[in-house]
Amino acid sequence: MSEYLLDVRNLKKRFPINGGLLGREVGAVSAVNNVSFKIKRGETLGLVGESGCGKTTLGRSILRLIEPTGGEIIFDGEDIRTFDAQRMRALRRRMQIIFQDPYASLNPRMTVGAILSEPMEIHGLNKGKDARKKRLYELLDQVQMPRDTLNKYPHEFSGGQRQRICIARALAVEPEFIVCDEPVSALDVSVQAQVVNLMMDLQKDLNLTYLFIAHDLKVVEYISSRVAVMYLGNMVEVAESHELYGGSRHPYTKALFSAIPKPDPSLKQDRIILTGDIPSPMKPPNGCHFHPRCWQATDECKNKYPDLTKQSETHEYKCFNPIT
Ligand SMILES: Nc1ncnc2c1ncn2[C@@H]1O[C@H](COP(=O)(O)OP(=O)(O)O)[C@@H](O)[C@H]1O
Ligand SMILES: [Mg+2]
Repeated sequence: MSEYLLDVRNLKKRFPINGGLLGREVGAVSAVNNVSFKIKRGETLGLVGESGCGKTTLGRSILRLIEPTGGEIIFDGEDIRTFDAQRMRALRRRMQIIFQDPYASLNPRMTVGAILSEPMEIHGLNKGKDARKKRLYELLDQVQMPRDTLNKYPHEFSGGQRQRICIARALAVEPEFIVCDEPVSALDVSVQAQVVNLMMDLQKDLNLTYLFIAHDLKVVEYISSRVAVMYLGNMVEVAESHELYGGSRHPYTKALFSAIPKPDPSLKQDRIILTGDIPSPMKPPNGCHFHPRCWQATDECKNKYPDLTKQSETHEYKCFNPIT
């Protein structure tokens, strides 16, 4: 058994843009561009990057909720892109997703009991009234919600409580891997920490593997063992969290992380303010996509896309003129 649960190789997702009277393809967005990474069993890989850089598309492509355009997704030793519909259905039990918006992702007309039972029914789990009830109570205990939750409707709960219900729904099928797509971004800051701590406890207890997408770098540093940084569809740097704070090599990562306020205000902080907008993913710049905003850029960066440099077993980046 490989120590890696997930091994993604050269994953691509391209969205064609149709226009004109005839609806012909007039362009395309390369939302995910040759992205490769691995996640160990029981580990959390954080995924960060500005809005629109392709994080959600990557997360959904890995689960084949949207069909990738190219690449391999090796899950527990098998390329799931070769799976037919029947094998995909069985696999859905092992891979789940939690969405950003706990308001939109729960059916308002269903009781929480029905919401949590649905995935078990689909996968034929915990059949029989007693077994079902026992499992529902267990799920509520796991997300620290009271038992009377089962007969209530989603609108009776706060954002944090709804996200707990979404987590319970994901756990209902006993998954091994969960894509967490900005699960706390829509919540009040005061409840974010509670939900993040709950997710970390669950990970330990149930040996879960997470891909944790967030734009809040502090949350990502807290929960992740390693962090991957995306820019315009490309993964530009991957390293252990502590390495990225002091020792990022890609200028984009450096800028992103320099924006986090330090706990001690007397410490000198070199904040890097990026100029220019994020370019359109329909028309990415030539060469390194980051070069128009990069203070380290040279002619090489304008013409060629940098290959991956492996600095160590845990740290890699794509840049011709890394920060030293
Ligand atoms: N269904 C779609 N059709 C066309 N373009 C899309 C679609 N979904 C996402 N995109 C585009 O792909 C890019 C990446 O989007 P997304 O994955 O949502 O980014 P993020 O989650 O990092 O904010 C964006 O430019 C977005 O407009
Ligand atoms: Mg997103």
